[in-house]
Amino acid sequence: MNTRENFGSKLGAILAAAGSAVGLGNVWRFPIETGQHGGAAFIIIYIACIMVLGIPIMMSEFLIGRRTHSNTARAYEMLAPGTGWKWVGRLGVFTGTFILCYYCVIGGWTLHYTLLAATNAFDGVPATEFADIFSAFVSNEWMPTVWLIIFMLMSHVVVSRGIQHGIERFSKVIMPTLFILVVLLVVCSVCLPGASKGIEFLLKPDFSKVTGGVVLGAMGQAFFSLSLGMGCLCTYASYFNTHTDLGRTALNVCVIDTIVAIMAGFIIFPSVFNIGMDADHLQAGANLLFISLPNVFQKAFGGVQILAILFSVAFYFLIFIAALTSAISLHEVTTAFISEELKLKRRWSALIVTAVCSVVGVLCSLSFGPLSGVKLFGLTIFDFFDYISGNIFLPVAGLLISVFAGWYLDRQVLHDEFTNHGTLNAPYVRVIIFILKYIAPLGIGMVLLNQLGAFSWLW
Ligand code: TRP
Repeated sequence: MNTRENFGSKLGAILAAAGSAVGLGNVWRFPIETGQHGGAAFIIIYIACIMVLGIPIMMSEFLIGRRTHSNTARAYEMLAPGTGWKWVGRLGVFTGTFILCYYCVIGGWTLHYTLLAATNAFDGVPATEFADIFSAFVSNEWMPTVWLIIFMLMSHVVVSRGIQHGIERFSKVIMPTLFILVVLLVVCSVCLPGASKGIEFLLKPDFSKVTGGVVLGAMGQAFFSLSLGMGCLCTYASYFNTHTDLGRTALNVCVIDTIVAIMAGFIIFPSVFNIGMDADHLQAGANLLFISLPNVFQKAFGGVQILAILFSVAFYFLIFIAALTSAISLHEVTTAFISEELKLKRRWSALIVTAVCSVVGVLCSLSFGPLSGVKLFGLTIFDFFDYISGNIFLPVAGLLISVFAGWYLDRQVLHDEFTNHGTLNAPYVRVIIFILKYIAPLGIGMVLLNQLGAFSWLW
């Protein structure tokens, strides 16, 4: 398709892909997992997972997208015409839509909490009441719905403007904002009295806590955090131009994502320890962000309310933009698919995605309230979407992607794309191919089995 847009600059491409990667996963899972599973020991394992699995798989997604310059589903059809591989691309589009349906619910919550923080709503609230505030909010029929629709509309506006004027321009403004906020929050947080205990909790290496389950958990976390296993990065790479160095771009995105994840720990733990909370009892996920932390931030600044307000607003706004740029990348996968396959204008296909995900998102959201009794395979609607996409679809697709790139694709194709047709010096290509062939399928296969409970008897 010759009317297809490309990213206008390398920086724009990197920031967009980093925007996809940096998201809720960095803030609400990584710091807690690190603190509870051996601090620096966990970080080392996580970084090893990123280097061994993350970078090669990210590079293969980039390769598939850039080689074909088309949406994920079509990309596989073009590279493997007449075979069943097209289903991997279709699975990606499907998974992206699934993730977006519940991701936008939480995106809406971050907006609501930014507003609560800005209006000083947490002032004087007793520690025990934060849980009630949160459950009253999420079980309300209207509020979360309104916020999730606002969140989806924001993503819609960016995606419908296209690549250069929408996603790239937005990423170039919002990602630097995100980095500045992260740095400011880290600086504030580590200056708190008692911060060193929090840093110690996060960094003190304790290899005795690292079990096989922890290693597999780190791999799964690396996968989600890097937005791998579905079409996000493949779709973005379809807008890369022929000079983009795929290996270097993947490395940049991985480094940015990991730094933000570690810095999120530096934001969270000093204040937790400053108020003397027992960090071992913090839970990952929504409870951390919306129950424990508002309370922590309220107390951490020794009664100087203006600081508590500023810090909380900056923190929730940071999570909101992190979630929004990830949502945009998910939105784009399905929008590109619909517009290219059904030959619809981008605006209309984006609208279809916004409408469908908002409706399903509302169902997910209501599963915290009026629909809490509706169960799919024993899970609420929200948990079902989260479980099936994160624990099943992503690893299955990740496994297939590595097999596709490592075994099915011609070596010459990999070589051409990784070296930009011989113009780049990429001595690592052989290593990457070896990993894609043997290590990645084995590693991801084990993550998948672990998530399905196959090793529960071991740890
Ligand atoms: N990586 C994002 C996060 O850390 C979430 C995300 C966006 C994602 N797109 C994805 C996860 C694609 C898996 C696949 O929150």
